[in-house]
Amino acid sequence: MRVAALADPDDFEGWRDAARGLAAEGVPPDAVVWQVGDVPVDLFAGAPDETAPTPAATGPGFSVPRAFLDVARIVVQARDPERFALLYAALDRLRREPKLMEDAADPLIKRLDGIAKSVRRDVHKMRAFVRFREVEDGEGSRYVAFFEPDHHIVRGNASFFVNRFASMRWSILTPEVSIHWDGTTLSEGPGAARGDAPEGDPIEEVWKTYYRSIFNPARVKVGAMLREMPRKYWKNMPETALVPELLAGAQARESGMIETARAAEIGDNAGAAWDALREEARGCTRCHLYKPATQTVFGEGPVSATMMFVGEQPGDQEDLAGKPFVGPAGQMFNRALAQAGIDRSEAYVTNSVKHFKFEQRGKRRIHAKPDTGEINACRWWIDQERMLLRPKVTVALGATAARSLFGKTMTIGASRGRAMALPDGGEAWITVHPSYLLRLPDPAAAEVEYGRFVEDLKMAHAALG
Ligand code: URA
Repeated sequence: MRVAALADPDDFEGWRDAARGLAAEGVPPDAVVWQVGDVPVDLFAGAPDETAPTPAATGPGFSVPRAFLDVARIVVQARDPERFALLYAALDRLRREPKLMEDAADPLIKRLDGIAKSVRRDVHKMRAFVRFREVEDGEGSRYVAFFEPDHHIVRGNASFFVNRFASMRWSILTPEVSIHWDGTTLSEGPGAARGDAPEGDPIEEVWKTYYRSIFNPARVKVGAMLREMPRKYWKNMPETALVPELLAGAQARESGMIETARAAEIGDNAGAAWDALREEARGCTRCHLYKPATQTVFGEGPVSATMMFVGEQPGDQEDLAGKPFVGPAGQMFNRALAQAGIDRSEAYVTNSVKHFKFEQRGKRRIHAKPDTGEINACRWWIDQERMLLRPKVTVALGATAARSLFGKTMTIGASRGRAMALPDGGEAWITVHPSYLLRLPDPAAAEVEYGRFVEDLKMAHAALG
């Protein structure tokens, strides 16, 4: 027996390195015991041979499909004690069955998919139901929340909260581990009990508004509601007081739904959540850009879309029409989409910044680039859109979109032409903004760049599989 010791229960890198080395040596799955620290995680495995070390990481000697690594990254966060062994068994089979991941009926793949689904659901719950309470410490306000995840998802989910609440100082306490953000650095501490987080909620109204935006009336059936949102989460949520009100309004809201949602993890029909989100965005005052603009230009497209396009901000015509990409850049975009074989009506198209920023010159309104503060203020909406849509592939059109999605400056030249992992776990492709193509003075260069743009779109589209 070989012992593969991992540092943490969600140690993906540790598992990957050990698995690579074991696979390169041809060690069969039933000859490995996986353990976290000193404790075996799979109690059904045989007894370890203390003298056999975990091999150093090398390549496994064959190429591993990305789909497998994506699933592995999620599955290691599960509480299932067999997760590391199951993943290694799949890795071992991939050597002989390179198409294994495509066989959804295979019992091992089915089991891994089921585990991954359960982890994703838990991730969603954490994102939706964590509630911060405001406390004062020596340095001012700190927001503290307690949460009990079902799986080991806290570290993997930390970047979501860092991005979402970048300017706040906060702590999330869980029984296993606590994470703390001071505005610049994320740190980790020991687990905590519910009583370690403060009671009450001085910022209750904020959460009530947020909760309204994600409430889904399709889940009014109490059974479904309890399944999706077990009572243990309710304890964290002062807004459960809202439930009778929401239930009363649910039918009316449901009948007003304009789209049928795909079965999202939040429930079977997310139409009302979208309606609520759009309605909330209509009144957005998160930054000053709403003042001179005509209206919020929210994203557009079927809520079942698997592809999301993110632009910079509405232009003059979009501001007047209330729709994204309908002006000159939009026409260029439409042409390129058609050439890339992408049906715009099947995609979700939105912008990083939802209000038109401009300088008034006489009668003309000249586009002005949004600054980092404006982009960050508007990331709230992109996050909400992404949480509801959960697109398979996201295309960032230009530097502002890339900055908004990744939370940092991205160089288009160095990033285009390949899939990139987003902080929220999604897959993104970065390309130029269609306006850039319109601004190129040399027609020959513009034609070349346009061709590259179409190629980028094709590659992103092909990633849908
Ligand atoms: N440019 C964008 O980025 N978005 C639009 O909606 C229009 C122009």
